[in-house]
Amino acid sequence: MTPGKPSTAKAGEPAKRSSISPADPCTIVIFGASGDLSRRKLIPALYSLAAQNCLARRFAIIGFARTPMADEAFQQLAIDSVKKFADNATGNDLQCKEFAQSLAYVSGEYHRPEAFEKLKHRLEELDHAHNLTEPNRS
Ligand SMILES: NC(=O)c1ccc[n+]([C@@H]2O[C@H](COP(=O)([O-])OP(=O)(O)OC[C@H]3O[C@@H](n4cnc5c(N)ncnc54)[C@H](OP(=O)(O)O)[C@@H]3O)[C@@H](O)[C@H]2O)c1
Repeated sequence: MTPGKPSTAKAGEPAKRSSISPADPCTIVIFGASGDLSRRKLIPALYSLAAQNCLARRFAIIGFARTPMADEAFQQLAIDSVKKFADNATGNDLQCKEFAQSLAYVSGEYHRPEAFEKLKHRLEELDHAHNLTEPNRS
């Protein structure tokens, strides 16, 4: 699930697939990324889609919330969320780590314009880094 690469299944096992077609390359922003909804539902659900090759082949996810956090801390939060709340039958540790590598984080407050400037800048960086040439926003 590293952007631009197919997902990695356990050695000898095919990746679990679903009948849902993969989406176009995209970047997804989770507002409230440090919160309960994100940790219990959104991140595990996105991981499950990615593990079943239903998310875009190339994707990035940016978490946005107030708590200052480095990308690595958000990636670890995501790994912990997946381990705790995702369907155990979906994916494996390697897929989980690959999924986490697609995550970035921006801290800011909704009412502060500079936070959205920071988010815009990060979106542009990730579009470039992950070759998301047709970003799904105007
Ligand atoms: N939890 C659920 O299962 C669930 C289910 C259905 C609907 N919802 C709804 O989903 C929404 C979020 O719920 P939640 O349970 O995730 O709440 P939560 O645990 O309190 O999390 C709120 C999130 O929003 C961020 N946030 C709050 N004010 C902000 C601001 N001014 N600027 C930037 N970020 C801000 C928080 O950031 P920091 O913590 O970093 O400050 C945190 O990431 C609520 O409207 C809730 O009613 C939740």
